[in-house]
Amino acid sequence: MIISDSETELPLINRHHPAIATIKDRFLLTKQGSTKNTYHVTLDLSSAPVRFQVGDSIGIYPQNDPILVQHLIHAIKAKGNEQITDPRSKASLTLWDFLSHKANLARSTSSFLKLFHEYEQVHDKKNNLHRILQQENKPHLIQYLASHDPLDLFKEYKDAKAPLQEICNQFSPLLPRFYSVASSRLLYKSEVHLTVALFTFSHQGEQRYGVGSHFLCHLAKLKETPIPIYVQTAPHFTLPADSNTPIIMIGPGTGVAPFRAFMQERIAKGASGKNWLFFGERNRTTDYFYQEEFESWKSSGKLRLDLAFSRDQNQKVYVQNKMAENAKDLWAWLQEGAYFYVCGDAHRMAKDVEHALQQIIQTQGNKSEEEAKAYIKSLRAQKRYLADVY
Ligand SMILES: Cc1cc2nc3c(=O)[nH]c(=O)nc-3n(C[C@H](O)[C@H](O)[C@H](O)COP(=O)(O)OP(=O)(O)OC[C@H]3O[C@@H](n4cnc5c(N)ncnc54)[C@H](O)[C@@H]3O)c2cc1C
Ligand SMILES: NC(=O)c1ccc[n+]([C@@H]2O[C@H](COP(=O)([O-])OP(=O)(O)OC[C@H]3O[C@@H](n4cnc5c(N)ncnc54)[C@H](OP(=O)(O)O)[C@@H]3O)[C@@H](O)[C@H]2O)c1
Repeated sequence: MIISDSETELPLINRHHPAIATIKDRFLLTKQGSTKNTYHVTLDLSSAPVRFQVGDSIGIYPQNDPILVQHLIHAIKAKGNEQITDPRSKASLTLWDFLSHKANLARSTSSFLKLFHEYEQVHDKKNNLHRILQQENKPHLIQYLASHDPLDLFKEYKDAKAPLQEICNQFSPLLPRFYSVASSRLLYKSEVHLTVALFTFSHQGEQRYGVGSHFLCHLAKLKETPIPIYVQTAPHFTLPADSNTPIIMIGPGTGVAPFRAFMQERIAKGASGKNWLFFGERNRTTDYFYQEEFESWKSSGKLRLDLAFSRDQNQKVYVQNKMAENAKDLWAWLQEGAYFYVCGDAHRMAKDVEHALQQIIQTQGNKSEEEAKAYIKSLRAQKRYLADVY
């Protein structure tokens, strides 16, 4: 059966029916000597008829690292070619494919320990498992699960001979990862650009990578590896309908991605509204993403650009410091009806930026704290304060 989008006759693509893209191009945005690795990834959409707008994100289904899959299969004492049933879709597939595409190999849950407890042959280990699973030991259980991934558990409880299907049933699902659209279709018709920061962390003293970023930045082979994708729409997070409206964009780190797309789109459409970007990263010499593009927009008068390189001096300088330095103009732009966008880190940056905006409204608008908060509330209600944070 062909499922199609009735308006356009495009096949219906969604999280249950992803399209298949490949990576057309990939390069580091950070330069040699940088303290991080952030990549520009171009997906080829010529065989993936997805429809997206600037502001949307692309959902991608990653694959787990084959080395980790191999280690896990070895620890389970399996071969990899065994047929098992995916507990969610009920589809039949090999153990290798299940562990590569369907299972979250980073998350241990107490259901694994319950299974090991049922099948453990070694008396002391069985007692240990019994103890750790008691309600009163919950804090210890949480800590234990957080510091042991499934591979650690299979190594530790190697004598628990649980049936393969039951083992597979315990894995959490491997979920899609999202990356902001960083290009406009008006410029790049059958591709989409992404700005991907490689996630690294240490596990039991070893360096590990985040699943989705490792897949996109390292594992997926150019022009070869199928990348299942779909569009996560963000109808709220888009350009103003009136192209004369000024926009202020706050995008440190990968948060800059949608704003590159916004700029490309506005320029392609000949929008006359003013554009102001605040970009921040660690160091100017190594981490100034899309420098040439931004500088050329700046020199042609299409973009006002403020940069905050946090680690180029002893004291941190963040995008919100640059906002404060330009408080008068920022307030003037808001009074002219500017939209205010923020994208990137949700944990600290987005809150700090909101706080900085509130300070600007208080000082420049002569408002009390309550009035400034109400002003931000009204910006939100007018859909002029738009955030896409993660
Ligand atoms: C709407 C939206 C847009 C986004 N846009 C972008 C974008 O444009 N660019 C971008 O780079 N990102 C973006 N992200 C974030 C992105 O989706 C991913 O969350 C990010 O790439 C990390 O995913 P990962 O699979 O690489 O890491 P994961 O495998 O999901 O790991 C992430 C976290 O889990 C921890 N962790 C995992 N396993 C272990 C373990 N065994 N022990 C200890 N810690 C562990 C890691 O330290 C880390 O904190 C966006 C997110 C959303 C929701
Ligand atoms: N664990 C990892 O390997 C890893 C890798 C990439 C991203 N991430 C996480 O993913 C998210 C986005 O990361 P990203 O690569 O896009 O960039 P980011 O880590 O958010 O950093 C971008 C810039 O924002 C600065 N910054 C830090 N705190 C800030 C704040 N409170 N207000 C304003 N600016 C602030 C950073 O400075 P400083 O760093 O100098 O303080 C840096 O200059 C973050 O949550 C980040 O922690 C984690």
